[in-house]
Amino acid sequence: MNIFPKNLIEASDLNKKNLYQIFTKAKYFEENYNPKEKFNDLKGYTVALAFFENSTRTLLSFELAAKRLSAETLNFIASASSLVKGESLADTIRTIDAMLVNMYIIRNQYAGVPYFVSTITNNIIINAGDGKHEHPTQALLDAYTILKHYGKIEGLKISIIGDIFHSRVARSNIVMLHELGAEIGLYGPGTLMPQHLNYWNAILHNNINEVINWSDVVILLRLQNERMQSGLLPSMNEYIKFYQVNLANFTKKDKIILLHPGPVNYGIEVEHCLTKQHNSMIDRQVTNGIFTRMAVMSLLTNIEDK
Ligand code: NCD
Repeated sequence: MNIFPKNLIEASDLNKKNLYQIFTKAKYFEENYNPKEKFNDLKGYTVALAFFENSTRTLLSFELAAKRLSAETLNFIASASSLVKGESLADTIRTIDAMLVNMYIIRNQYAGVPYFVSTITNNIIINAGDGKHEHPTQALLDAYTILKHYGKIEGLKISIIGDIFHSRVARSNIVMLHELGAEIGLYGPGTLMPQHLNYWNAILHNNINEVINWSDVVILLRLQNERMQSGLLPSMNEYIKFYQVNLANFTKKDKIILLHPGPVNYGIEVEHCLTKQHNSMIDRQVTNGIFTRMAVMSLLTNIEDK
């Protein structure tokens, strides 16, 4: 019998076995995808997309994934809700619960909100990104994309470059890719590195050429200005000079792939032309996101597998 968690709040909710269950199911959905026919895994379920923070990819991806599994979806727009009139988050969740919803997909600017919601409702919770904490389904789609490309994750050297400090994508990826047996390298400005680096068991790199030479996979991050409280960089030109991945430093290595969770700030963390090359996985990540999210939603509702 498989033990699958009730909720997906952080990467450590999933062990290696759970992860491969998700990848197998995602592959099944990908191979059997037919735009004219939906899967029935979530028939009879209502999924609330509770996004308290802006999103393009993640929101649309979860909505499509839910619909392709035959769920009903409910779009909760925080800025157009009674939260603006002073209603508490707890009351908002109780109200949505009373509409007989079965699953919440939650994005919020504050770390811990999906966990807090899990203390209010018995319905299934999936974290779609909470503050600087975690974004586990982004890590899942990244891992699935890497697995499809290399046929394995164990033993791969995967670097994460850029604004690690503000990145929930980095936090989920470090935990999940370690669980899958990858080596993790990190590179970014000192002011954008968290203090608890030792805890992560990651290799710290010192310059852009060195980190690229070391890597089989590069995961790039955006400078997340909306999460910065003060100027943490001397200048944008300096960031570009020392941290940008560009034609000059990236194409020296042929067997390497580039991932980015988006949104991409072209000309800052990456040179535009690189994102159009064959080793850029950015568009494939978006497509894979739908299949991996379908897999997670299906497995979380599959009571027989629990
Ligand atoms: C990321 C996010 O929102 O955490 N994007 C995403 O979900 N695709 C990364 C980011 O905002 O830079």
